[in-house]
Amino acid sequence: MDKIRIVGGAPLKGHVRIKGAKNAVLPLMACALLTDEEVVLRDVPNLTDIRTMTDVLVHLGADVSFEGNVLRIKAANIHCCEAPYELVSRMRASFWVLGPLLGRFGHAKISLPGGCAIGTRPVDRHLYAMEQLGADVQIQNGYVVAKSDGPLKGNKVIFQLQTMGGTMNTIMAAVLAKGRTEIINASAEPEVTDLARCLIEMGAKIQGAGTRRLVIDGVDSLHGTNHTVIPDRIEAATYAVAAGITGGEIYMENAFLHLMEDVVFTLTYMGLDVIEKNNGLIVKATGCELRATDIATEEYPGFPTDVQAQVMALMCLAKGTSSVTENIFENRFMHVQELVRMGADIRLQGSRTAIIHGVPKLSGAQVMASDLRASAALVLAGLAAEGETIVNRVYHLDRGYDQLEQKMRVLGADIERIKGLPEE
Ligand code: EPZ
Repeated sequence: MDKIRIVGGAPLKGHVRIKGAKNAVLPLMACALLTDEEVVLRDVPNLTDIRTMTDVLVHLGADVSFEGNVLRIKAANIHCCEAPYELVSRMRASFWVLGPLLGRFGHAKISLPGGCAIGTRPVDRHLYAMEQLGADVQIQNGYVVAKSDGPLKGNKVIFQLQTMGGTMNTIMAAVLAKGRTEIINASAEPEVTDLARCLIEMGAKIQGAGTRRLVIDGVDSLHGTNHTVIPDRIEAATYAVAAGITGGEIYMENAFLHLMEDVVFTLTYMGLDVIEKNNGLIVKATGCELRATDIATEEYPGFPTDVQAQVMALMCLAKGTSSVTENIFENRFMHVQELVRMGADIRLQGSRTAIIHGVPKLSGAQVMASDLRASAALVLAGLAAEGETIVNRVYHLDRGYDQLEQKMRVLGADIERIKGLPEE
């Protein structure tokens, strides 16, 4: 397994371009199953998760090609509606082929996704929605077996608690259903909005994109499209924290305030300057003394859970006492003990709240990545720490960051990947 070696201390300065959002590309790939025409996705990053979703689509019979950040998908010869355990267990978002397969073909057999480091992550809300749309849903030997006699039927779907994946699965199931579907308490994350926009380009009838109430009028079929993926607000937030934690200045091309307002408010309060410029954001932290603050993760437009670990790393060096309350996942503090090994002063209060007392410096150490965003937080801490940090199990990082260490090196970081032996 590969490792990443960092010698901290260099202020990061320069220009980085933010790529298309992983969490938009994955559902957009799934929605290509809804038509037999080609769907072209542009500005697609090169990530492990996207290769996994490609494996799923190819397994189903789709033609997929990826060249120069352009993904071409043609689902004209789907010969199977089953997503096996081997693929779904690698990446939870594979479960999002349920909606399009059920919506277009009337049946689907999808392995239940396992939990992961950050939580059990059930799919009960997804299954409720499929049943609301008229499907018969059974759980058999670890698989969801769903089928409908004829097209799904539009209906009201009320998410008592929000679910981003559940909202996307429901939208993709409803666009070819007979009649009108209303989704109440839908997730309004930009990635959900981007999926709705792409489906509208393909001929779907969707109102309310970007709000918590979506109205979908089913159509008979959808056609292909050529869609540019929205920028990755989580990648942008990660580079913004990199500027803050190293006292540098980074211009992030293709990053936009409206996608990450709560993150920018928090970073600005902590002492960073964030300026909109041309087609991006400049983040300045040269000479700034970081101020402690409190964050609580919420559904969009609140503070995103996917940025919690990165900002916690920044809080470790802020003057004063900060707190982080994680309201979305039940176990998303795996980075805490690793940051403590680097000299951070963090204490947990129950499983949902961490108290961070700022320290003057962090020290390099051997640390273990546990999940995608925790591994990003450890890299960020290593960029600021005195001495050498080795981040182990960086395959987590490769799931969601395209060439992170190369981009950080261009910005002035002393960082390199140490190739591990495959069997390690
Ligand atoms: C998406 O996961 C993202 N993944 C996650 O990003 C993100 O953290 C999460 O949304 C929340 O914003 C992708 O987009 C690929 P949820 P998803 O359904 O859809 C519970 C990253 O780092 N829940 O909104 O799986 C669930 O356990 C990843 O890029 C149920 O109980 O998240 C969680 O506690 C990590 N039953 C909460 O709701 C359900 O049926 C939010 O889950 C569905 C969800």
